[in-house]
Amino acid sequence: MKNVCISGTGLFTPPESVSNDELVACFNAYVEQFNVDNAAAIESGSAVALAPSSSEFIVKASGIHSRHVMNKSGILDVNHMRPRLETRPDDQPSILAEMGIVAARQALERAGRSASDVDCVLVACSNMQRPYPAMAVEIQSFLGAGGYGYDINVACASAAFGVQAAVDAVRQGSARCALVISPEICSGHLNFRNRDCHFIFGDAATAMVVEPMERATSSRRFEVLGTRLQTQFSSNIRNNFGFLNVAEQPPRPWDDVLFHQEGRKVFKEVVPMVSELILAHLGDLGVAPDAVKRFWLHQANLGMNQLISKRVLGREPSAVEAPVILDEYANTSSAGSVIAFHKYHEDLVPGDIGVLCAFGAGYSAGSVVLRRV
Ligand code: COA
Repeated sequence: MKNVCISGTGLFTPPESVSNDELVACFNAYVEQFNVDNAAAIESGSAVALAPSSSEFIVKASGIHSRHVMNKSGILDVNHMRPRLETRPDDQPSILAEMGIVAARQALERAGRSASDVDCVLVACSNMQRPYPAMAVEIQSFLGAGGYGYDINVACASAAFGVQAAVDAVRQGSARCALVISPEICSGHLNFRNRDCHFIFGDAATAMVVEPMERATSSRRFEVLGTRLQTQFSSNIRNNFGFLNVAEQPPRPWDDVLFHQEGRKVFKEVVPMVSELILAHLGDLGVAPDAVKRFWLHQANLGMNQLISKRVLGREPSAVEAPVILDEYANTSSAGSVIAFHKYHEDLVPGDIGVLCAFGAGYSAGSVVLRRV
């Protein structure tokens, strides 16, 4: 059994960004228009007036200030309120593959590897471009990697599931060098007309190189001390988009095939699930919680992350111990914890331990315990 490490990470950040104020201004213009258009029905009680959103609520409830997106103008057009992405012909790279490739090339460069070293490409994310061919195979082809590729979808926890699959493949010898890529255009499945959640998502792509310790040369490598996954069925975060939508009778309402959640229930149920998962995983690895120098957690809600780190550490975490990227990026689903890892690992010294933990719909959660080499 080989010891395995993450030897490089990469990040693609879309150049456009939407602030809370911009998003709220558009949402509130839509609300005003809806209430005017439906004034008679609201008056008679057959329709309910919509309530406005506010930047203050968004920051207080989630910690989010802005989000990077692949198309800003479509999202902020009150008559459209979703991204406008060009339809590409089959002979051109798909947009998610393009984002993933940028992150993958950066991760390879940081690992001191080239695409020809790679023989396993895993695309691990919430929303695939299409059912098939697999995005991983498309990215493998554009990168010029060998071996095989496949897609993994375990919602926001996908990257941790991808790391475990990559680590197992490298450890068993079925791959020599694996890429775990998480491209997300969360703005594509977000209902920008839903006050409860119109602010929560953003777009980004990440990548990680996984290879045997004995081959890795990068100064940035982190040994994987262990991975642990957990799932527990819940419909509290759900998206009913799927290939049967065209066949379903009666057809689903338009907003049922977009993201929807019971945010408060998710908060209450996922915090204990994740903190217990991390504590049990650390315990089995013989790592004391207070020996953990860094928590690279899934970035959905600031309060949730503070609570999870607090339950693990037994005290309030400092901003350095549990870095936050959701203020700038919002929830980028599977990419979130990896963005935190990518941006906040340079200061760790050899021997320092960190936990990358991703969690989300399913419910699903994955813990990856890492030691700086
Ligand atoms: N602007 C202003 N007020 C709003 C609002 C908005 N955009 N959205 C909701 N509100 C109001 C509600 O109407 C409610 O008002 P009331 O108390 O008068 O009934 C109040 O704010 C609280 O709403 P609630 O939905 O309970 O907010 P919350 O504190 O639970 O925060 C989330 C909402 C989504 C930010 C939070 O629940 C969350 O992040 N949960 C975790 C979700 C998660 O991790 N999901 C994983 C996704 S991958």
